Amino acid sequence: MNMTENKIGFLIVVIIVAIASVGVTYLLVNIFEKKTESKNPYIRLTEVTESDTDPEKWKTNWPREYDSYRKTAIATRTRFGGHGGSESLPEEKIERDPWLKRMFLGYAFSIDYRDRRGHAYMLSDQEQTQRQTKPQSGSCLHCHASIMPLYRELGNGDAIRGFEESYKYSYNELNQKLKDSGHAHPVSCVDCHSPNNMEIRVTRPGFIQGIQALAESDAPMPLPSIEQWRKGSRKEPYEPNKEASRSEMRSFVCGQCHVEYYCASNMKLTFPWGNGLKVEGVEKFWNETTFDNGAQFFDYTHKETGAKILKAQHPEFELWSQGIHARSGVACADCHMPYMRDGASKVSDHWVRSPLLNINRACQTCHRFSEKEIKRRVDVIQQRNFDLLQRAGSAIMALLDAIDEAKSKGATADDLKKAQYFQRKAQWRLDFIAAENSMGFHAPQEASRVLGEAIDYAWQGTLAAFNWKEKTQ
Ligand code: HEC
Ligand code: HEC
Ligand code: HEC
Ligand code: HEC
Ligand code: HEC
Repeated sequence: MNMTENKIGFLIVVIIVAIASVGVTYLLVNIFEKKTESKNPYIRLTEVTESDTDPEKWKTNWPREYDSYRKTAIATRTRFGGHGGSESLPEEKIERDPWLKRMFLGYAFSIDYRDRRGHAYMLSDQEQTQRQTKPQSGSCLHCHASIMPLYRELGNGDAIRGFEESYKYSYNELNQKLKDSGHAHPVSCVDCHSPNNMEIRVTRPGFIQGIQALAESDAPMPLPSIEQWRKGSRKEPYEPNKEASRSEMRSFVCGQCHVEYYCASNMKLTFPWGNGLKVEGVEKFWNETTFDNGAQFFDYTHKETGAKILKAQHPEFELWSQGIHARSGVACADCHMPYMRDGASKVSDHWVRSPLLNINRACQTCHRFSEKEIKRRVDVIQQRNFDLLQRAGSAIMALLDAIDEAKSKGATADDLKKAQYFQRKAQWRLDFIAAENSMGFHAPQEASRVLGEAIDYAWQGTLAAFNWKEKTQ
């Protein structure tokens, strides 16, 4: 071996070492990046604050979540989910099911009540509905806009106080204020995330007050943090943002809006949860509620029969709470915002929509059946619910016919009290399942139970109307 050969050999070794160390460094950097990525899956390029209701501002830091969030503007359709009708306007529910329209006579819902669609439309659909031809309250905006900064403004910094003032404004007045303050956006990042650390959180006062009343009740709930709070001193109210588990929070964020509520200009927006989330618990809550003039609470007077009726609104959170998935700790976000892979990281799909468009990620993570089989199981549940719903609709139409007939034969309001009492109970139950948007899927057995009761009460009411002359009530 001469010197030149030695030198060349040495050089080769140096080059190999250099290449190897570049490789090792690359690997280490890569591992480090992956670790930080799973812990802190974003690099903050711009600051976002509590007042940044415009999602564009958040896009720079979280482009993947933002991109999927924007897709809520895309039309979706499944057999019962998404919406029919055109892109300019979803289909009328009250025309598809004429018994709905007759049930709502005397109320704005008999004028215009359509299929829901994606989150991107929530504010414009609310502005456009013909229900606005009747005066509506500023409370409507609680669930259709990114409204927290406006609540803080109305309450001089105190959002709850601002919220409690907001029902006194007319819808148009408050919506104008929202526009003037630059916050006229549909549900936005800041509504479900803390801008400081991106943790999910609830912001809506209606939900916070409702869940606190629920915690204070003794209704059994499949929510471990509430059970835990009940065992404590109960001196401080239950605080969902501090006490709820991450899994519970993955449903609470949706429970801010997908719930039964009362919203008008004579009372603040109320989530009726003080006696639990079951249909009769909520009914009891409303029956115990009185207006300022002392009269028993009701939503509207039925135009044909004069009965004081309760209207149910989309109780997804309530029905979900009664099903096997809630009991098993499966959250709304598990099915409606499942993870998608993006390279090495997992991103929650912010294209909130029907999970049936996404069975692979929404269901097959837990259920090891083929997509076809899962779809069939859902079909069976929904078809049974649909059939029972139609029967309950016919039963209530028979009750209305019977009351009309009794009236035509001279029955007075007093003679028909009992029939009206059953109409209120029957309609409340039918509407609870009809207004819920999963066609029974969120809790199939509970949905059948409620519809069974609706049918029973409708026929008891019909009997009472036939026998109006026997004033035994
Ligand atoms: C186990 C999975 C699962 C869970 C958990 C779940 N859902 Fe659903 N949800 C479904 C299915 C399935 C449907 C029916 C979709 C269809 O008919 O296309 C549905 C329908 C809906 C719809 C109507 C969808 C549409 O496209 O019109 C809404 C709104 C909804 N769910 C909200 C919620 C909320 C809020 C929660 C939590 C309180 C929740 N869901 C929990 C599976 C789930
Ligand atoms: C507690 C939250 C909440 C409040 C308050 C609320 N909404 Fe909604 N709204 C929802 C949710 C959730 C949906 C989607 C589910 C559905 O359509 O059943 C919806 C759907 C709608 C739709 C589209 C479907 C339809 O019904 O035609 C309109 C329009 C609408 N709301 C108008 C209003 C008006 C007007 C008010 C005030 C009287 C109001 N909302 C108050 C939560 C709310
Ligand atoms: C309706 C509530 C809601 C809205 C609105 C919302 N998110 Fe989320 N987001 C969630 C939920 C639920 C998760 C899952 C969090 C968990 O499991 O800890 C999530 C997770 C995230 C995460 C953590 C990583 C991931 O993908 O799981 C980021 C980042 C994020 N969202 C960004 C955004 C941005 C940016 C916007 C606005 C364009 C937004 N979110 C709007 C509910 C929401
Ligand atoms: C700030 C109130 C609000 C929050 C929070 C919210 N939603 Fe909605 N959601 C609405 C309204 C309002 C609509 C109906 C919009 C319309 O029809 O214009 C809607 C529509 C939907 C639809 C129907 C989509 C379609 O394409 O037909 C689904 C599914 C849904 N929401 C699920 C959820 C889930 C799951 C969560 C929690 C991760 C959630 N929502 C959080 C108010 C809300
Ligand atoms: C995070 C896990 C998880 C996800 C995601 C999930 N499920 Fe389930 N599902 C369960 C558990 C747990 C049960 C209870 C039965 C059991 O233990 O197997 C269940 C039960 C069911 C049942 C039987 C219901 C009954 O009343 O007996 C059906 C049907 C079902 N799931 C369909 C679905 C569909 C459709 C989806 C997607 C939209 C889905 N599941 C998503 C965990 C999950």
